[in-house]
Amino acid sequence: MIRRAIYPGSFDPPTNGHLDIIERGAKMFDHLIVGIGVNSEKAPFLSVEDRLQLLTECCSHLPNVEVMSFDGLLVHFAKEQNSTVLLRGLRAITDFDYEFRIALANRSLAPDIETTFLIASEEFSFLASSVVREVARLGGDYGKFVPEPVARCIAARLA
Ligand code: PNS
Repeated sequence: MIRRAIYPGSFDPPTNGHLDIIERGAKMFDHLIVGIGVNSEKAPFLSVEDRLQLLTECCSHLPNVEVMSFDGLLVHFAKEQNSTVLLRGLRAITDFDYEFRIALANRSLAPDIETTFLIASEEFSFLASSVVREVARLGGDYGKFVPEPVARCIAARLA
């Protein structure tokens, strides 16, 4: 049996924490799709095209990882991709309530799809895309929080 999973998120921008979950997830599944959820009601920091290109570049060393974007429901995307597993990262207890609600909503919509979690590595337990966006906008050193290609893209975006 081929084990296929989806790691969904906004990835706006992708962080070192995301990459850590992707690298660890790639060891657990035969095929891992990084799914960039497109929210057309929210103006993104980086465009979907930028996020697609950046994540593809950052995952180029992982042959079983594919990067795609999706709109609409995550469970529909998972079914289209023949995936019955959703992978999410959990940082702190504060993530739990949100993740719990989303996982239950997804299970109610699609009982055959399971959500599974990886605990974030300690060094990334505080790291969120929102932190990177704020540090970047306020002129701080965001380079330590994101892969190099992402840092370059953010610099261009803010120039
Ligand atoms: O990184 P994020 O912002 O926590 O990712 C959120 C994402 C993209 C995984 C979530 O918003 C999502 O699944 N969006 C698609 C719409 C959907 O299926 N929502 C869940 C049902 S409530």
